[in-house]
Amino acid sequence: MEPMSAEQLTAEVVDRLDGTPNPRLREVMQSLVRHLHAFAVEVSITDEEWMQGIAFLTATGQKCDDVRQEFILLSDTLGLSSLVDLINHAGDVPGATEPTILGPFYVPNSPERAFGASMVEFDDGGEQTIVRGTVTDVAGNPIAGAMLDIWQNSANGFYAVQQPDVQPATNLRGIFRSQADGTYEFRTVRPQPYPIPDDGPVGQLLRDTNRHPFRAAHLHVKVSAPGFVGTTTHVFDAESAYLDSDTVFGVKGSLIRSFLPDADGELVCAMDFALRADS
Ligand code: BEZ
Ligand code: FE
Repeated sequence: MEPMSAEQLTAEVVDRLDGTPNPRLREVMQSLVRHLHAFAVEVSITDEEWMQGIAFLTATGQKCDDVRQEFILLSDTLGLSSLVDLINHAGDVPGATEPTILGPFYVPNSPERAFGASMVEFDDGGEQTIVRGTVTDVAGNPIAGAMLDIWQNSANGFYAVQQPDVQPATNLRGIFRSQADGTYEFRTVRPQPYPIPDDGPVGQLLRDTNRHPFRAAHLHVKVSAPGFVGTTTHVFDAESAYLDSDTVFGVKGSLIRSFLPDADGELVCAMDFALRADS
């Protein structure tokens, strides 16, 4: 038997996947093998580096539990999560609010809160802020009864889910509904820039590649309404640090808003959301 070349090995693995009954799985796996092999050839990966890679992925899996998803952090910090978002949503209907990544701190079943109510259940000195705006379709017609599921971090930089012994579980989380004219409003504190969890292998990789772990300050919003395509997005603070170096590549210009004092001196962040019809 002749010694096999790298090209022949790649072709043989790809051929071996020819019998995959699900055509999409076949396409994805064959492409994955081609790209994985091409990557290994391009960097002339050594035995030690391959083993280091296996150890890194093993540690990444071992760091995962019910509330910690290290693989998603890896995807986020490599820009893959934002790439998946771009591939699937860059061509969305013009005028619709742009989506961005979900992140690991979303907790379903937040409390329903009334129009104008506060989400603050734990005071650690955050700057009081009103967030308000209108939910519309892409033509600007108000959507009544839209659901806005909001979550954000506290002045100390942490989400409630990260500090079960410090913050009430529903602090800075809430579900709000738009009124008949599409408007919504709630009270909160100004979100803060914060480091993604960096005490695991992904944090080590950030340090090894001389990258910081910080996200620009933002609120998370899931907006949905019957008859419309819901969106998962953020509102970024225009004055935040890290807007141009968000460690998970989640910032989009259309999602940046100023937090400005109104006539009564209260800090207001105005953000409208537009949803495309579900058809
Ligand atoms: C977040 O925005 O909550 C987040 C996103 C990606 C990684 C870590 C946190
Ligand atoms: Fe976040």
